[in-house]
Amino acid sequence: MYIYKVGVVGAGTMGAQIAEVVSYSGLPVVLADVNAALAKRGVDAVRAIYQARVDKGKMSAEQLAEKMLLVSASSGLESLKDVDLVIEAVSEDMKLKAQIFHELDQICPRNTILASNTSALSISALGAATMRADRVLGLHFFNPAYVMRLVEVIPGLATTPQTIDDAVSFVESIGKLPVVVKECAGFLVNRVLMAYVNEAVRALQEGAAPLQKIDQEMVSFGMPVGPLALLDAVGLDISFEVARILYRSYGPRMTPSPLLETMVKAGRLGVKSGHGFYDYVSGEERDQDQGLERLLQEVRARTGQGASPWSQSRLLLAMTNEAVTALQEGVASAGDIDLAMMAGIGYPKDKEGPLHFADRLGVDQVLHELEDLAQTLGPRFWPAPMLRRMVDAGFTGQVAGRGFFTY
Ligand SMILES: NC(=O)c1ccc[n+]([C@@H]2O[C@H](COP(=O)([O-])OP(=O)(O)OC[C@H]3O[C@@H](n4cnc5c(N)ncnc54)[C@H](O)[C@@H]3O)[C@@H](O)[C@H]2O)c1
Repeated sequence: MYIYKVGVVGAGTMGAQIAEVVSYSGLPVVLADVNAALAKRGVDAVRAIYQARVDKGKMSAEQLAEKMLLVSASSGLESLKDVDLVIEAVSEDMKLKAQIFHELDQICPRNTILASNTSALSISALGAATMRADRVLGLHFFNPAYVMRLVEVIPGLATTPQTIDDAVSFVESIGKLPVVVKECAGFLVNRVLMAYVNEAVRALQEGAAPLQKIDQEMVSFGMPVGPLALLDAVGLDISFEVARILYRSYGPRMTPSPLLETMVKAGRLGVKSGHGFYDYVSGEERDQDQGLERLLQEVRARTGQGASPWSQSRLLLAMTNEAVTALQEGVASAGDIDLAMMAGIGYPKDKEGPLHFADRLGVDQVLHELEDLAQTLGPRFWPAPMLRRMVDAGFTGQVAGRGFFTY
């Protein structure tokens, strides 16, 4: 089915960005929120994204005006009765989203696809709030949607292959990169990312390395931003919430670092509150401040943990191990996992993703390093069973000519 018209529910940060992406591709889009003022604020945010491009000379004022003709505001959901696809982007609240899906199910034509931009909630449960679970799926855009190419396409338990195909074609038609991901907590990218950023917080908490060193080493590896600066940008409260959802699903290996929780409770939420791992208030340079130092001492005293050793592997292999676990579970193919990590979080292109990274390092080496890390740092590093199977069968990576990929 071709998508001729799109509705976006929730005209906040993501809703406005998604509406911009859709209109930029030439499709009309209705941006709905609870009242006219909020919907208009969303439309203004779409215009601001275009205006920034005009200011940079990347598009003309006429083009801006043309694109804006495609964007309309709506208070409430009634005006979504003639759209082919709805992308829901309201706050991350299951009750609210389920209610909206229930209402959309009454309003939209039977064939309309109902998609959610949720970061971590169950797509199957949203489908169950409707009489058309076959036409419900997740379309997970990344922030900022007008920059990030990746869109995770997440079928629920009852989503039909036709709906997946329709959604994939739509994502391609708006110039984005669709990766179909089997439903699981955190889907693919946030799940693999969390294993890495949570380990970075642990390393800091345990005094393995100072803040700047942790971030700088990952930037030197090729990441666009260090893991702790990334957490500050995303918001520590949102990150902690995602960490809790992942913990509920995956258990102890995803235990949120106590430091993360302590910082959220202390109101250090990152860039938006002026303080997180870095201080964004006291001057130009982001710097570590005494407030963080006090919290670190408090958490260290409470957890009674001594200093732990630092290595880049600690972070990089936490990510690779989770990627292998996702591969084992059939969440996505090896190629798609690497593609998604490059397009979704900026995993360095020359390293080609966490599974190519393992192939280059040697799958046997990855296995041995994870075994060492499990000994020294704890069972969260227990190697994904697939690694041992691969090593036993000689799939040891690039040097052997075969690993996660064939060479
Ligand atoms: N912010 C991010 O970086 C990011 C990235 C990927 C996915 N997401 C997901 O996208 C969704 C939206 O996040 P956000 O950051 O844009 O939130 P936001 O708080 O900026 O916007 C939510 C909007 O939904 C509106 N809303 C609330 N109830 C509504 C209703 N009943 N009907 C219509 N509109 C309603 C609010 O008025 C608000 O404008 C969440 O599920 C979030 O997990 C967020």
